[in-house]
Amino acid sequence: MTSVNVAITTRPGSSCDTELAKGPWEFDLAPGYGPGASEDDAIPEPVTRPGQLPTAYQRMDESELHERIRNAKKALGDKLVILGHFYQRDEVVQYADFVGDSFQLANAALTKPDAETIVFCGVHFMAETADILARPEQRVILPNLAAGCSMADMADEDSVEAAWEDLMEVYGDEPAADGRQAVIPVTYMNSSAALKAFCGKHGGIVCTSSNASTVLEWAFERGQRVLFFPDQHLGRNTAKAMGISTDDMPMWNPRKPLGGNTEDDLLSAKVILWHGFCSVHKRFTVDQVAQARADYPGVRVIVHPECPMPVVDAADEAGSTDYIRKAIDGGKAGDVFAIGTEINMVNRLQAEHPEMTIFCLDPVICPCSTMYRIHPGYLAWTLDGLVEGEVRNEIVVADDVATHAKVALERMLAAKPS
Ligand code: 13P
Ligand code: SF4
Repeated sequence: MTSVNVAITTRPGSSCDTELAKGPWEFDLAPGYGPGASEDDAIPEPVTRPGQLPTAYQRMDESELHERIRNAKKALGDKLVILGHFYQRDEVVQYADFVGDSFQLANAALTKPDAETIVFCGVHFMAETADILARPEQRVILPNLAAGCSMADMADEDSVEAAWEDLMEVYGDEPAADGRQAVIPVTYMNSSAALKAFCGKHGGIVCTSSNASTVLEWAFERGQRVLFFPDQHLGRNTAKAMGISTDDMPMWNPRKPLGGNTEDDLLSAKVILWHGFCSVHKRFTVDQVAQARADYPGVRVIVHPECPMPVVDAADEAGSTDYIRKAIDGGKAGDVFAIGTEINMVNRLQAEHPEMTIFCLDPVICPCSTMYRIHPGYLAWTLDGLVEGEVRNEIVVADDVATHAKVALERMLAAKPS
């Protein structure tokens, strides 16, 4: 296993982020994300800022950290469930009871009703979602509170409220003759609980990358248009695949009056796209797809729908992390896959399928730098705390927010493809 003090698992020096080449503790001192994600959480003593692990754990060697994790898991038994997102590092994923995409993990906790504690090895919005959907007596822990999501932070509650007010001025808030609302807010799962609550209050819904088209269909049954945040790429790729013209998808830039649009743009809009993106997925390019095809004739190119539209168009398929996993699991010896998603997941798929060639489209190593903050040191520290009866790094969504956010999440869970 890779040493816990080595920042990235492959090809040191070829990372997209020079900060990642630092040791994990130094990296953790850099500001985390962020508003609506981790900054409102209570940081327990002796930890004084998000991302700072007690020194004793920073100094522990790898084998001791892993021994502590194993012992704590054994001691806690069925009272504990550990969830791991596909993008999580292998040193942590090996302890997960469930590994999945964000939709599957939102449901996974519900399948372990006896678990008192859900330790979420993912990012902040995922842990918040688990807290909203979990039973009241279950608690959710995010091992490192600085593990946010840069995309989720691109849409904050105040900016979305302000945008909504502007849109209501343009459209009026009366439903049309056919009963449909002027606009339905749709938030990607990668958003704060406050924005999920906003959607719950305004007739809106949550989506993930695995159900975005079903959710947009749901929204168009109830509304004339959609305000989609925070990921412009998922919104654009999904709406385009449903036959909506990109001319009818203006972008909303929260720093500009009317989001940078005219009233006419907004009146003819079908999907208003928030100006957000994922810094990992926006790196994929059409040239990389062309290079993969030149290097491996017959290669199957699959990308995540957070990639820019020209990349999705150039690929053979686009789908959620679980879609990608299933596609590869369904492959056969000798198949070649070029994948446009996060490197930890791509490397794991290659390790699980040595009979195939599976590589990341981006030749530069670009892990999700916030998922990366869940280091085995944090997992050991939070699990040791549970064994000692101390709850560290609990994620608690305030009741008034959780109530409305749950409405939007339950609409998503109930939405079925037509
Ligand atoms: P999935 O919903 O496909 O798991 O993706 C989550 C994510 O954060 C992708 O960047
Ligand atoms: Fe957020 Fe991108 Fe990381 Fe996914 S990969 S958690 S969207 S920063």
